[in-house]
Formats: sequence, structure tokens, C-alpha cells
Amino acid sequence: MKLKDELKSVIPQDLLNLVPSGFDIIGSRSGAVAIIEIPSELEDYKYEIAKAIIRNSRNVKAVLRRIGPRSGEFRLYNYEKLIGDLTEVIHVESGVRLMLDPTKVFFSPRDQYDRLDLASRVKDNEVIAYLFAGIAPYAFIILKHKPTVRIIYAVEINPEAIKYAEINVKLNKARGKVVPIEYDASAFCERMRDRFHRVIMTLPLGAHQYLHDAIGCVANGGVVNFYHTGPEENPFKDAEEIVMRHCSNANVDCRIINERVVREYAPRVYKVRVDFEVSKVRNNLKLN
Ligand SMILES: C[S@@+](CC[C@H](N)C(=O)[O-])C[C@H]1O[C@@H](n2cnc3c(N)ncnc32)[C@H](O)[C@@H]1O
Repeated sequence: MKLKDELKSVIPQDLLNLVPSGFDIIGSRSGAVAIIEIPSELEDYKYEIAKAIIRNSRNVKAVLRRIGPRSGEFRLYNYEKLIGDLTEVIHVESGVRLMLDPTKVFFSPRDQYDRLDLASRVKDNEVIAYLFAGIAPYAFIILKHKPTVRIIYAVEINPEAIKYAEINVKLNKARGKVVPIEYDASAFCERMRDRFHRVIMTLPLGAHQYLHDAIGCVANGGVVNFYHTGPEENPFKDAEEIVMRHCSNANVDCRIINERVVREYAPRVYKVRVDFEVSKVRNNLKLN
């Protein structure tokens, strides 16, 4: 459906080009929420826009208008509810079912290809610390594609996200494989030193503050999946420098094994993932 075409008879011609060309849908056939950004110039038409979305997408039960950027430690958007009260949905992604309420927890359907890419790199029997896990979408996608993974600890501080992560463990029959833990990422790593084959750090605006912790809890030879942001001209430079600085401070050797632009984060700014392997055994002969 093209929203603009749908609203031609309602919105004046000079404002029509401000109607967003797209919006996010979170949910499935059983019920979905549409999330849209509406510029202030279209304030008088916001309910008409919401009604047009509902008319054309039968599964959409609620329309939320996104206000401002994500904020707070739980990384949530502020929303204005335009239509509908029920915002709890089951989102289906790559064969995985994820229950969530986007007004209470972080979730982005736009990360689905990154989840598939990361899952494709996981090896048999990995023990994984998934920091900043939210409702734990990466964990369920990994388990779906690599059922031989040993265990994934999903570490998160938002109690609502933990509640949904636990529901999702049941929905995806992941008991004993995905373990949600309501805990601060730094404190968790502190207690689990040298333990993990992989540490996943899905907090692009803050993960760098926890790199010291992640390097501490990854095992010798393990991999850290580090998320960061960078400008279009050179999206990986800042992330690479931060990684190398932390590795040097921790007195470990790190080797970047993969880099990926995840998606656009803001105009001309990308969210990126830098995967690096950590070697904790320093060769003294080499150093002398
Ligand atoms: C960008 S979201 C990513 C959530 C999830 N991995 C996903 O992709 O949908 C980051 C999450 O980290 C959580 N968080 C922030 N600081 C944290 C901390 N110190 N320890 C554990 N979780 C934290 C937030 O509540 C939020 O749910």
C-alpha cells in the first residue's frame, strides 16, 4: 500500500510529500503494531494516517507514532498511541516467535539480517554470553540455525524484557539452551571471567564502555561481536581503534576477523559490527 496514494483526498497537495513512505510493522498475522514517524506539519492528519494504515493492513491492531530518538538505559522510544490499546504482539522472524510489547522493551525488526549473519558464524557447542539481550532475539535465531550451540546466557537489566525473554524461551522450546538473566552486563562478566566462546554486545551507543568486561569474560581464543556506530565515510575506523585500545590495555592480542555494516542508524551514520578474536596467551619469546 502507498500511504500517499491512500491519503490523496484527505491531505492537501502541498503536504502530501511529507507523508512517510514506510513504517515498521512488529507482529504477525495474529496481530501487529505499526510504528510510524509523522512530521509535525502533519499533526492535524495523524489520525487519518493511522486509519489508512489500519484499513490496508488487516493484522495491524494498533498504530504508534514515534516521538524523538531512543532514550534511557532501556533504549526505548516515546510513542503516541494513535489507534488501539493492545500493543503486545508475537513477532515472527526467520521461523522464530518473539512475544514483546514495543512500548516496554527494545526491539527492531530491521536487525533481522544481522541476526542471520551472526547465527551463521556460531559453531557447535559454543557457550555464549549475550549481553544487552532485550527480549533475546539473537539467542533464538542462533538456536534455530545452530541447535548444537551449548548454552546462551541472555543478560539484560530491563525486567519487562526479561519477562518476555522467558516467555520466548517457552514459545521456542529453548529451555536449558537460552537462559535469561536479569543482571548488569558488567557485574555478570566480572563473575564469569574467561568463560565464553563468544560474547555478543548489542548496545551500539554504549557497548564500548563494557569492552573491558567483555574481554575479561571471553575465553582464550573466543570471539567478541562488538557493536558501534560510525560515519558513512569510514564506518569501522572508530570501532577498530576502540577495540585495539582496549585489547592493548587488557594485555591481550586481538585479531579482527569480520566487519559488517548492520544498517543505517541516523542520516549518514551506520550501525556496525566488528567481530574480533581474543588471544590471552602472550608468547613471551615473541615479546622479548
Ligand atoms: C539496543 S538494545 C538491544 C536488545 C536486543 N539485543 C535486541 O537486539 O533486540 C540494548 C539493551 O541493553 C539493555 N541494557 C542497557 N544497559 C545494560 C546493562 N548495563 N546490563 C545489561 N543490559 C543492559 C537495555 O535495557 C536494552 O534492552
